[in-house]
Amino acid sequence: MNANQARRLVVLGTGGTIAGRATQVSDNVGYVAGQVAVSELVAMVPALAACPLDVEQVAQINSKDMVLGVWQTLAGRVAVHLERSDVAGIVITHGTDTIEETAFLLQTLLKPSKPVVLTCAMRPATALVPDGPQNLSDAVAVALHPQARGVVVVCAGRIHGAIDVAKVHPYRTDPFDSGDAGALGCVEEAQLRMFRPWPQAVPEGTHDTASLQRLLGAAVMPRVELIFSHALADGEVVRALLGHTSGAGRLRGIVVAGTGNGTVHDDLLAALKHAQSSGVEVVVASRCAQGRVVPHAGQPLPDSAGLSPVKARLALALRLLEV
Ligand code: SIN
Repeated sequence: MNANQARRLVVLGTGGTIAGRATQVSDNVGYVAGQVAVSELVAMVPALAACPLDVEQVAQINSKDMVLGVWQTLAGRVAVHLERSDVAGIVITHGTDTIEETAFLLQTLLKPSKPVVLTCAMRPATALVPDGPQNLSDAVAVALHPQARGVVVVCAGRIHGAIDVAKVHPYRTDPFDSGDAGALGCVEEAQLRMFRPWPQAVPEGTHDTASLQRLLGAAVMPRVELIFSHALADGEVVRALLGHTSGAGRLRGIVVAGTGNGTVHDDLLAALKHAQSSGVEVVVASRCAQGRVVPHAGQPLPDSAGLSPVKARLALALRLLEV
């Protein structure tokens, strides 16, 4: 059986607002995330009854509380299911708050030739008009598409690539944006309309699993902190980080979300240079919501190659796992 003949999907539940429960149907903010079982979420979408699905509850959390153990379990299960010849793709239900980080992690580690589709909701399952069932239904349509590949996020009828997607709004039901790159496509009545190519994928069976194995075997992630440059910034936070040792391990990296084109307040930059000379890796990203640091000669710090500050932080931590 090849990937095009396989029709079975795996749905992995991790929690989030899509699985949230409130005491009032009118309450769209005072709910508790990660309450409703993923099997119940699947049951809310009658069209999914006709689709052969395996459903697994991997975690049941608010995604703001993501921990290494959940990522390890999730990445491990995704890798196992991707190997199955009867599986066409994987759908993951997830909270919106850190979905872009989980999507980036999975794309970086797996670059799957089958689709791994993360979906979510901005209204709890108990809301008067929950958005989760439609998002889940759209995610299934994407995961079953014969050309689909790579890790994507599906929400509010749009398909976003894992590298570019960012949550840009705390309340509206279409909270994601893919910046200058734009969404990959959209889902309309279960039909896909693509604007851009699918994310990068490596052919089945040729994937180097060393990075995945390193993540799965890690006891802790290398400590990489994310700080901002801003008006009146100084080097105090960097000096405090350098002086601080705790059970979380010594500081290995700092990502600074710089102003504009990755510029950093002189006083903060001096402290970051000192951190670099002490063996801490420093990377600068832009704190602007869109665009990237445009590289130029004489840049005082290496830039994040277009990654947002949170993704640059994760990319650096993954790189430091290798050394
Ligand atoms: C979460 O990220 O788990 C809660 C918020 C959400 O899903 O919108």
